[in-house]
Formats: sequence, structure tokens, C-alpha cells
Amino acid sequence: MIAGSSVESSWRTVLRETRKAPLSLYFHDYRPETEDLLKAVIRGLAQEPKRLHPKFFYDEAGSKIFEAICEQPEYYLPRVEQRIYADNAEEIAAHLGRHRPLIEPGAGNGVKVRFLLDRMAPSLYAPMDISAAHLKASAARLACDYPNIPIHAVCVDHTGEYELPDEIPTKERIFFYPGSSLGNFSPAEAIHFLSDLRDKAGDDGLLLIGIDTKKDSDVLDRAYNDAAGATAAFNLNLLERIRNQLDTDLDPARFEHHAFYNRELGRVEMHLRCVRGHALRVNGQSFHFESGETIHTENSYKYSPDEFLILAKAAGWEGEALWLDADRQFSVHLLRSD
Ligand code: AVI
Repeated sequence: MIAGSSVESSWRTVLRETRKAPLSLYFHDYRPETEDLLKAVIRGLAQEPKRLHPKFFYDEAGSKIFEAICEQPEYYLPRVEQRIYADNAEEIAAHLGRHRPLIEPGAGNGVKVRFLLDRMAPSLYAPMDISAAHLKASAARLACDYPNIPIHAVCVDHTGEYELPDEIPTKERIFFYPGSSLGNFSPAEAIHFLSDLRDKAGDDGLLLIGIDTKKDSDVLDRAYNDAAGATAAFNLNLLERIRNQLDTDLDPARFEHHAFYNRELGRVEMHLRCVRGHALRVNGQSFHFESGETIHTENSYKYSPDEFLILAKAAGWEGEALWLDADRQFSVHLLRSD
């Protein structure tokens, strides 16, 4: 458990000097441990079936490819979610109220939150991200554009154990978790994560969360197999990363991207499928792939609004409002602590 925080005052001074105006920008660095890629690969390839955690997708190249995925016409999620926010911005903001602390785990580039910052005048905004470089860059942009909102950037792995900085008021906290990122957890992990947010939100807390819905499997299959090959490149980049960073004779050319909707389990699965048998070594340790064998790299669970509310309830949240697009492709839930 990490308690407290450190503030990098030098960073704050630089920003103040460049703008020639006082900015309320604070950086709380919890120095998150990035799990060792070598350990994860050795452990994941020894498992049956073989698997690797999706967090390893997001090196610099992978993060750029993910941005390209979000531009693909087949990958409807960000576009539809954004439209829901745009179409319902005033109503959402009215539900959230004004001058409350706003906290965003996994804030990334800090674009989605702008419609809330424009309307809610939060008492402060706390973006959280595991990548210090991304967090600093996006927090600095927001601080320049919203000089009246104190920004407390928290560099932390929001899926692990941590305490929020003391500067974030404990009353009336609002959490924002867009992008259907919850779908990348198993249902049990999702309940654990939502329970943790519930504890942090307190008895008068709110959670605004974006969740991808269940739909026609053709639409889902296309979304994770875009024609331009962005999702394939994203998946295969994991092998490039392993080849570049570890001592290995792994041959990425022997693998292909394989993604499909598993209707029974309600999730899109991504795998890397070996097309030609492959014996390889990683750091002196031997592994073998049969032709057709896969490495399971990601699950993306889809929930109908009712299914999601059952999950949320199990984590101590009560449904307060729900917004959907006309085709019910994506859902935005507002939850209140139970
Ligand atoms: C980040 N996450 C919500 C994406 C998803 O849809 O599960 C990651 C992704 N994987 C392939 N395409 C996008």
C-alpha cells in the first residue's frame, strides 16, 4: 500500500515560467513498478494455454498503434462514446453537479474529460496514469487550457493498491472511467476494481463509466479485425517488443493476429496464432509452439446495461442514470455509491 505523495515543485515552476501565470499543477509520483517483461514472458509462455497480459501492449510503439486503432472506421467504440458525451453533455453535467473533485484513473491523453471540465468547474481534477511522460504532457496541456482548475496528476498503476493523495478531498468524489477499459478485466477483476473505486469514493461518491455493449458478432469481429490491419499490428507489436527487449530467437513472422467474439463468454478474444511450429529460447529457457497454437493476449468483455448493473451492484454501486446511442452500441452509466 502506498500512502502519501511527493510533489515535483521544479516541474511546476517551469510551467509557471512558460505561461507567466500561476498554475495549480501538482505531480504526485508513486513510482509505479512496471512488471518485468522477462518474468512475465517466461511465466506466460510456460502456461497452458500460453498467455501474456495486455498491459504489455502499451510501449511507445503500441500506444501509437492504439491511437491508430481508434481512427479505424470499424473500431466504433471511441467514436460512439464521444457522440454520447456530445449529445448528452448538459444532462450529464447536471447530474454530476459543480465544484466536486473529479478523478480519472487511466486518464491517457486527457481528451475525453474536457467536456466535463468545460461544464462542471470541478474543485480539482486528478488524472491518474502509469506512464509519467504521458501524464506530465497531458496534465500540462490541461493546466494551460483550464488555469482555474487545480490539477493533481497522480503517476500510479490504478489497477494496483494505492491511496489517493491527501490533497484530494474525500467528500463528494466523482470518478470518470471512460473507454470501456473495464472490459479488459475479467468479471471478477472488474468487481474488485469497482469495489476499490467504491471505497475511495465514499458514501456520497459518483462514477461515470463507459461500457461497450453486447451486439452482433459481425460488428465485433470487424472492430477487432480492421481492414487496415491496425489491430493486427497492435497485437503483433507485442512480439516485436519481446524480440527487441529480451535475449531471444523468437520469430514474429511465424505468428498471425487472431481475434473473434466468444459469444458464450461474452468477450472478444485476441490471440497470436503460430502458423508454423516454432522452437525458441528466451533468456536460455526453451519453449515450443505447435502449428496453430496461440498466445492469448487480451479479452474485451461486453456487457448489456442490465448485466453491467449486476456487476456494479456487487461492487457496492447503484445505477443512477444511463445514456446510450440510438443503436445501443455503447453505454455510459452514472453510478452512485450504495
Ligand atoms: C483499451 N481497450 C478498451 C481496448 C478494447 O477494445 O478492449 C483495447 C483494444 N484491443 C484491441 N483493440 C482495442
